[in-house]
Amino acid sequence: MYPKKVRIVEVGPRDGLQNEKTEIALKHKIALVEDLANAGLQVIETGSFVSPKWVPQMADSAAVFQGIKRQQGVTYSALTPNMQGFEAALAAGADEVAIFGAASESFSQKNINCSIEESLQRFAPLMEAAKAKGIRVRGYVSCVLGCPYEGEINPIKVAEVSRQMLDMGCYEISLGDTIGVGTPLKTARMLEVVKHQVPLEQLAVHFHDTYGQALANILVALQMGINVVDSAVAGLGGCPYAKGASGNVASEDVVYMLHGMGISTGIDLDKLVSAGNAIVSALGRPNQSKVAKAILAGR
Ligand code: HMG
Ligand code: MG
Repeated sequence: MYPKKVRIVEVGPRDGLQNEKTEIALKHKIALVEDLANAGLQVIETGSFVSPKWVPQMADSAAVFQGIKRQQGVTYSALTPNMQGFEAALAAGADEVAIFGAASESFSQKNINCSIEESLQRFAPLMEAAKAKGIRVRGYVSCVLGCPYEGEINPIKVAEVSRQMLDMGCYEISLGDTIGVGTPLKTARMLEVVKHQVPLEQLAVHFHDTYGQALANILVALQMGINVVDSAVAGLGGCPYAKGASGNVASEDVVYMLHGMGISTGIDLDKLVSAGNAIVSALGRPNQSKVAKAILAGR
């Protein structure tokens, strides 16, 4: 009923840090990525190559990629909105890139300044270039369980955009509950519709924990056959274009739950907790992971 193994995609250095208001020294960003790899994370979204006017915190992503000591077998990926971002990501040494679309028209406008249809067209040359260079592309769909501007989102729209991104060549579609409003049965209903357009083996889930529902939603997704989960160490982050959205579900909480269920991740939870503790100490912000707090209290 549950998968034996789950692949965790760590998005803390990108989705987490992109939303921090205070400037973060490059050395802390580099240390975070290295600590995560040491903890056993095999896919780390290391930064993004977007307009620095839109997301200033990611302006030094190239320096992060160039500064990290790499570990064999780890994929260091980057978020790229267009050809300019794609070329910069490759020049910096990204192993893989991700494009991002939305299931909500208003969110697409606010996030990337164009309609859903235009955004897909904008990705076309990027997909061509990636194919020619043999670079794998992951696709995100935002607002799959609700939008900060439009409210309810029809799962049919989620399925449609996901399918289009799959057809364009993405190897996996990560379904993002950008504002963390989803609940378990709603998650199940959405996945039930999307799975007819994208095979479950090519779907990942990406929950923000704004309303504290992320673990329950992940559990439902696992029951339905999904085995790729995005999370951010220490529950870092939020979304600059989704007011009130809190961070991604904490990686420590996801790993604790999975290990407790006998599902392997290849991650050393203790080292993961240390990685999260180091970055929240550097940021001077509280750790959002309950598991991390419990483990740290016992040290
Ligand atoms: P625009 O202003 O419409 O585009 O922005 P433009 O093509 O007219 O370019 C404007 C300026 O940006 C130009 O510079 C370009 O050179 C520059 P200027 O001439 O004004 O000096 N520019 C770039 N600079 C660096 N790298 C680039 C790049 N492209 C253009 N790649 C654009 C369009 C898409 C660029 C902009 O809207 C943007 O960067 N948006 C980023 C939004 C973003 O990063 N959002 C957060 C990530 S999404 C997310 O968090 C959700 C997710 O986690 C899933 C979930 O939770 O659901 C993935
Ligand atoms: Mg996100």
